[in-house]
Amino acid sequence: MAHDLFEAARGAMAFAHAPYSKFPVGAAIRADDGNIYTGANIENLAFPEGLCAEATAIAHMIMAGAKQIVEVAVIAEKLKLCPPCGGCRQKLSEFASPTTRIWLCDADGAQKSLTMAELLPAAFETDALG
Ligand code: THU
Repeated sequence: MAHDLFEAARGAMAFAHAPYSKFPVGAAIRADDGNIYTGANIENLAFPEGLCAEATAIAHMIMAGAKQIVEVAVIAEKLKLCPPCGGCRQKLSEFASPTTRIWLCDADGAQKSLTMAELLPAAFETDALG
């Protein structure tokens, strides 16, 4: 994985609003337009309303007009490696392909990668909607 994606995820983590969990997370998406879109977790006093870092990054990507995720980096300050939560796996899969790589990072860089299909086998997919 290129270093720029790691740097972007680590930089994004500094913007986390995580006063309740005190568990900052950063995510960076390289999109099909060649740009990197970042996100951090944004918590809310009404706990279920909080956003994960991956969801924030997806929102930035979509609102910039990009359509597809090429690769993703995720980093959490307090966890050696932070795999995306179940809900984020589904969210990412909407804009990824089965071979899209998700890089799990620590403070030194990417330490492990999984494909989208490895992270979310048997994804919810259907052409019965839309
Ligand atoms: N979190 C993320 O941002 N991404 C994940 O994939 C795992 C969990 C956040 C949500 C919450 O703000 C904090 O980490 C603790 O769960």
